[in-house]
Amino acid sequence: SEAEIIMATEENGDSSRCFLVGKKTDIIEAKRINLTVGDRDIIVIHHQGTFYSMDQHCYHAGGPLLNGDIEEFNSMLCIVCPKHKYKMSLEEGEGIYKASNPKEPEQPARWYSKGIKQRVHKVTEVDGNIFVTLSDCPGWIESDYYQGEKGREELKKA
Ligand code: FES
Repeated sequence: SEAEIIMATEENGDSSRCFLVGKKTDIIEAKRINLTVGDRDIIVIHHQGTFYSMDQHCYHAGGPLLNGDIEEFNSMLCIVCPKHKYKMSLEEGEGIYKASNPKEPEQPARWYSKGIKQRVHKVTEVDGNIFVTLSDCPGWIESDYYQGEKGREELKKA
């Protein structure tokens, strides 16, 4: 109902950053959708019963996350960018990679974090509709680059 939608908007704080992105059933069927809300290109993902949202262009070089595989690494569900296989967690946009320590060559390779690299957005479900509240996390997150004019120009050239 409209009242519930308004409530969801208010619960999410800044209503100007909260957008209706589609019907739950449609997104489940599509599995993933790319769309632009406000001034941001985002992806909304449904995977194993949970909705996620993040910037749609990979922080590394703008690769299309729409075509990335979802796999679990280091007990975290991650999307793997199809372009150069960078991995980032669906929950937080944390970039992770596996490496061995050259100082301890006898130790097996382990997972390392690069910190938050991909900006993630909050997904809310109300009454069969899916809303995304854009992240207002302050400061620069690397995927912001491809949301800016320069980054978008680069994407067009690629
Ligand atoms: Fe995504 Fe390089 S563009 S891994």
